Amino acid sequence: MAVQTPSTSTDDVLSLIRPAVRNESEYLVDAPGPPDVKLNQNESPFDLPDDLKEELLESFSKVKFNRYPTEQPNRLRRALAEHDDVPPESIIVGNGSNEITYTFGLAFLEAGSPMVLPRPMFSLYGKVARLQDADLTEVPPNEDFTFDVDGLVDAVRETDARLTILATPNNPTGHALTLAEIERVADASPGVVVVDEAYVEFNDAPSAIQLIDDHPNVMVLRTLSKGFGLAGLRLGYLIARPSVVTELMKARLPFMVDRFAEQTALAVLDRPRLIEERVHQMQVSITEVTEALKKMEAVDVVPSDANFVIFTTPHPADEVQDRLADRGVLVRNMGGYPELEGYLRVSAGTRAENKAFLTTLEETL
Ligand SMILES: Cc1ncc(COP(=O)(O)O)c(C=O)c1O
Repeated sequence: MAVQTPSTSTDDVLSLIRPAVRNESEYLVDAPGPPDVKLNQNESPFDLPDDLKEELLESFSKVKFNRYPTEQPNRLRRALAEHDDVPPESIIVGNGSNEITYTFGLAFLEAGSPMVLPRPMFSLYGKVARLQDADLTEVPPNEDFTFDVDGLVDAVRETDARLTILATPNNPTGHALTLAEIERVADASPGVVVVDEAYVEFNDAPSAIQLIDDHPNVMVLRTLSKGFGLAGLRLGYLIARPSVVTELMKARLPFMVDRFAEQTALAVLDRPRLIEERVHQMQVSITEVTEALKKMEAVDVVPSDANFVIFTTPHPADEVQDRLADRGVLVRNMGGYPELEGYLRVSAGTRAENKAFLTTLEETL
């Protein structure tokens, strides 16, 4: 039998992928083997207590693995609504808050849609803009890396921005915006302003949720990956006006949250003291690390309102990152952000992890 040559080659298939996708890079975090001390992804250093894990594992045995969950995890939606004092209809729960960014990208951005981001900014948002071929305007920070709020107000006005994203406290700088500053941007903006509050638990400023009542264009994005310590389960949520949520739901894939994640989040939300204590420990931890870094000769630290902090040393950041990694300590080189050449980021660890990081850094320097 004659073997037919396929009429389409792999290269033909690759050429069909939109340039906006092919020009991107995969999101990869360097992980040279299992580290002793992992402080490179702004995670909580605290896993759930063993007794709670056992309780959850026991309850998972009753879950029907063969059945789909509901489209939205409704029990969790109600629990989150109670947690944030908003109606359940104003919440979309997703497979991590990152996943929800694609929903608002799809819903608000067409090719050429004006979008505004402050710089430096959590890298995913630039990617959402590029994947949708949006027309992105980036607003550089002030010299001390705080937000240039006047610049943001001007940019949303001048570009007629359809979508603006503010992360507060910001990753990677750790700086927060005040409610009045967010309100200025929202008032000036003809489009939507998404406020990413991934690190809100570590910051004492009030949440932008309260702006939604008077500003229909404001939405708040939250995650359970940081303060709640559930990064491995992938849970995040968006809060917006219920009528906006109804429309955004049309752009979503169903069943994004599995039964295990929902059940775990419910159990954790039921233990507010546990989370409060751990958030407090992370706040103390990052303050102690910041103070210790400040005392090191030739190390410069940018004070942070989140559970991580950025700093420079006299050496190239990639070299310091590699040398620490060789000794089992993972921190993140921030050199991918043009403003942050030479900066490294370290997240709050346990006391022992912080000590190991600080000692290893001192020896490395
Ligand atoms: C600003 C910001 N938003 C969102 C996330 C990720 O959230 P999730 O784990 O819910 O996808 C991060 C994680 O580093 C972040 O820094």
